[in-house]
Amino acid sequence: MKVIINDSEYEAVEGETIIQLSDRIGVHIPRFCYHKHLSVVASCRMCLVDIEGIKHAQPACSTPLKEGMKIHTNSTKTKDAQKSSMEFLLINHPLDCPICDQGGECELQDVSLEHGDSHSSYMQLKRVIIDRDISPLISTDMTRCIHCSRCVRFGEEISNVKELGLLNRGEDMTIDSFIEKGVSSELSGNMIDLCPVGALNNKPYRYSARTWDLKEHSAISPHDCLGSNIYYHTYNNRIVRAVPKENQDINKTWLSDRDRFGYEGIYSNDRALKAMIRVNGKLVEYEKQVFLQELSKTITKNIEDYGSDMIGCLISGQSTNEELFLFQKLFRALSIPNIDHRTNECDFDYQYDYPLMPSLNCNFNDIGSFDNIILLGVNIKSEFPILSIRLHEASKNKTKIHSINFKSTRASLRPMMENFKLTSQTNIEDIDILNIEDILKKQNINKQKKNIIIVGPRISYLPNQSNILSMLKKLGEPYAVKIGFLTDFCNSTSGWLLGNVPHRMPAGGTCEKNGLNSIDMIKNKLKSYILFNLEPEHDFIDSKLLEQSLENSQCNIVFTSYISPMIEKYADVIIPLTVFAETSGSYINIEGRCQYFDKVINPVSTIFSGSSILKQLYNNLTDSNITLNDVKNEVIDVISNVDFNSYPSSKTQKNSTHKGKDSYIPIQRYSYFSDATVRRSISLSETEHSKKVEKTNVKLESLNTVLEK
Ligand code: SF4
Ligand code: FES
Repeated sequence: MKVIINDSEYEAVEGETIIQLSDRIGVHIPRFCYHKHLSVVASCRMCLVDIEGIKHAQPACSTPLKEGMKIHTNSTKTKDAQKSSMEFLLINHPLDCPICDQGGECELQDVSLEHGDSHSSYMQLKRVIIDRDISPLISTDMTRCIHCSRCVRFGEEISNVKELGLLNRGEDMTIDSFIEKGVSSELSGNMIDLCPVGALNNKPYRYSARTWDLKEHSAISPHDCLGSNIYYHTYNNRIVRAVPKENQDINKTWLSDRDRFGYEGIYSNDRALKAMIRVNGKLVEYEKQVFLQELSKTITKNIEDYGSDMIGCLISGQSTNEELFLFQKLFRALSIPNIDHRTNECDFDYQYDYPLMPSLNCNFNDIGSFDNIILLGVNIKSEFPILSIRLHEASKNKTKIHSINFKSTRASLRPMMENFKLTSQTNIEDIDILNIEDILKKQNINKQKKNIIIVGPRISYLPNQSNILSMLKKLGEPYAVKIGFLTDFCNSTSGWLLGNVPHRMPAGGTCEKNGLNSIDMIKNKLKSYILFNLEPEHDFIDSKLLEQSLENSQCNIVFTSYISPMIEKYADVIIPLTVFAETSGSYINIEGRCQYFDKVINPVSTIFSGSSILKQLYNNLTDSNITLNDVKNEVIDVISNVDFNSYPSSKTQKNSTHKGKDSYIPIQRYSYFSDATVRRSISLSETEHSKKVEKTNVKLESLNTVLEK
């Protein structure tokens, strides 16, 4: 259909509104209540435009285009209508821009300058609203609210947690949380972005900088496996806040609170800032230049003294592709076979029959195409909030969501979406016994339909994960079910793909000699451990067993960004590492999408970037001369030549696994405890979510009894 905007002809799509077309063609129309991902309420009247043949100006956000429609966005009628709306909106809005954090990025300020008048005919006193403390993450100045209701609709339509509402009417209308409750959803920070004025602001960032002094850095969030796109804003080389970077294929315009506030941990007091070596029982600081030689000597001596089989190399799935690739390249070059990134697991029988890497087996944009999505052992709302938005959207159409989950998660599993069915609430050990197929039959899940089972990271912590995975694989055929995985670290995909498992080389290549898996490395009390980016207290399935092994071993080499108590006690060498924002690199998200990012802030000069120190060690110990560019190209080579969902044939050699009486399910890893930096975010630790989790943090030790039977 053809329409005319400001005397130029455009092609419009059936059902398109004036504002949608003008956004598409780059014609600016001011707005407050309209947001492209929210329903249209047409309440602020800021988008009024002149349409030929209609007496009064009409709201562009709610008026659908018709063949031949002629619209003027700059005519006197449009300007007068917008000026009146602006004057009306400013009646109660305080003139406190100089002390408002929104100043400089305020939609009201900008629109008022461009479309408002220099004086108001309103001479009465302005209304004042008393503020309440609704969240440790959001500060309120409700006198500034213009009642656009974006924040209310976000809760109703996107996060599906109705936390804010419009109370009362007319002059008395206020935005408030219901029944004196606060705002606590895992996506609450998005309301800060949506608020077009300074009524809802970022509390931790409050008064720390003016927006025009900030530098914006594009990055990839490292706090879950979705790879949300993010902007970090810095002031004097310090991150002061994070906001979403729009990517319609991943996080759209949203960000989880974990991604938004997780960076705070970077400034924790226990950052590792100096290279140290234990001498006569005490950690002694070393200068960077001498330290590298000492470190190379220590690794060589350990291999000579204990043999390469007696060294265990463990790396976090939180590391970048470049670090993961170099880690295994270095230690394999030194003939050390014991390499693993799966430190949260204890049953590894499945490993020879596992795809090249864990993958969701579909793109986020495809989520809505499934008829049934069965979530297995995942509390999607708290563990993967951004993905829960996709599921919520899908559930409004044809998709039915089912969940088979742990009993202890009941408290945090609130009804999340339409069509959401809690298929089975069970002790996870019963999954074997209950048989997932029976559950699916009872739910009348049609085999002919498009179905997917999404397996959560908690399944990988179980001592019976191999049984569950093989059962799922068998189930896949008759039910034509796809099996997708979600992982606990942001780059566990590359942990597998780039060969940080004891039985596979990068791209699933066969190892000359299979090494020990992570739990066997710890159980076998090796002579030396090398930990990269791992916190012994929190990143291992059995931290007590690990502690015994670290105590018994002769030399523990720890690459770390934080000095935890166990590191301080047992590390013989500490290599202080940059965190994600202080280095460049890439991650592969759970869809298989590789995303690159650059350094956001400059680290202190005494610490090492993970990939640089691994590269230098490699060059020192193997007499080579590779560059970081070579490494980047090698990684690209691996990524671009593989099918992520293929099954490599690796040399089968059953390892002993950690089953039996000493098996247990570890405490659940809650979302604000997911990695070392997030764990140290003070704002996140003050949320209701963190407090509630502390109360429901139940150890599921009853599993031992079941296994013994
Ligand atoms: S608080 Fe902000 S987003 Fe919510 S209604 Fe008021 S102005 Fe709109
Ligand atoms: S943006 Fe159209 S009425 Fe508010």
